[in-house]
Amino acid sequence: MLGASGYAGRELCALILRHPALSLAFATANDQRGTTVRIAGRDVTFASPDDARLGDVELVFSALPHGASKEWVARIQEAGARAVDLSADLRPGNGCEGIAYGLTELNRALIAGATVVANPGCYPTSILVALAPLAERGLIAEGGTIVANSASGVTGAGNSPKRELLFAEVADDFRAYGIGNTHRHLNEMRATLDGWKANADLVFTPHLLPVARGILSTITVPLTRPLDDVLQPWRETYAAEPFIEIAEATPALRDVVHRNVVRISATPLAGTRAPMLLVTSAIDNLVKGAAGQAVQNANLMLGLDETAGLPL
Ligand SMILES: NC(=O)c1ccc[n+]([C@@H]2O[C@H](COP(=O)([O-])OP(=O)(O)OC[C@H]3O[C@@H](n4cnc5c(N)ncnc54)[C@H](OP(=O)(O)O)[C@@H]3O)[C@@H](O)[C@H]2O)c1
Repeated sequence: MLGASGYAGRELCALILRHPALSLAFATANDQRGTTVRIAGRDVTFASPDDARLGDVELVFSALPHGASKEWVARIQEAGARAVDLSADLRPGNGCEGIAYGLTELNRALIAGATVVANPGCYPTSILVALAPLAERGLIAEGGTIVANSASGVTGAGNSPKRELLFAEVADDFRAYGIGNTHRHLNEMRATLDGWKANADLVFTPHLLPVARGILSTITVPLTRPLDDVLQPWRETYAAEPFIEIAEATPALRDVVHRNVVRISATPLAGTRAPMLLVTSAIDNLVKGAAGQAVQNANLMLGLDETAGLPL
């Protein structure tokens, strides 16, 4: 895999090393090349990307930063391998349409036959998996505004040093960033909502939570009509899904960390003129939001059991 020394990459290395049918052929880094670290009880030495034997493997995971990943995916394809790209480079709405978008539960047929899969962003996974059952039933009010507020642990920002992510800057604090509807994940969320013919605006505000991992999204959705059984859309759509949990109580990060799941709940909003729902969704940003979903997609692409090697 490429970008193995990052937060998403290390999580992915651990999943690959514990997987019953995958083996780790190479693990690359940039600044950390040559370093040996202990992952899943094994010593892993990070190689230079130029030494990666792309043509010797069936599938390459790229956990490179956005901007750097796209050219490597092209090299992977030239070498005859398939790719799961964890960066934003090839996701919908980013100028590279026609690539399979790896929201596994919603795109299985495309993913299984794809040469390249664009693994979704962490925030979009938490928000789009939660919105899909409403969109597919035409329950999102035409011309309305969906408001998604998401709080993420600090691993969401990667492990290259940044002053604003120093312990003393982050600890005992809570703040919004990417305000004004400017976060880059909006592109793939808007493109996906458009694809679902959900004619609504999306206002998305991410927040930095002083924990290592996990995302909690609270999403306000204007509805076309009140729902008698508020959880029924999710229970129906995701009835057979091993990695989607529908909960009566609002999910919390401790329900999902280190697990490859999206946990969702919904509650009607009292005191509004038009019917509205508050949908809450929790994931581990490094597992279902990155490495876990990437392995789920790779399992599908390689014809393996979709749940193989994934922590429930
Ligand atoms: N963190 C998350 O929660 C999360 C969730 C979903 C998707 N993603 C996506 O996954 C990718 C990796 O994210 P991350 O958080 O793991 O980032 P990260 O911790 O910063 O890791 C980036 C990785 O890429 C390597 N790298 C950096 N620049 C490179 C270059 N120019 N050429 C070759 N290798 C280079 C780094 O090597 P060194 O360590 O040696 O610098 C490291 O292995 C990103 O595209 C991100 O958007 C992350």
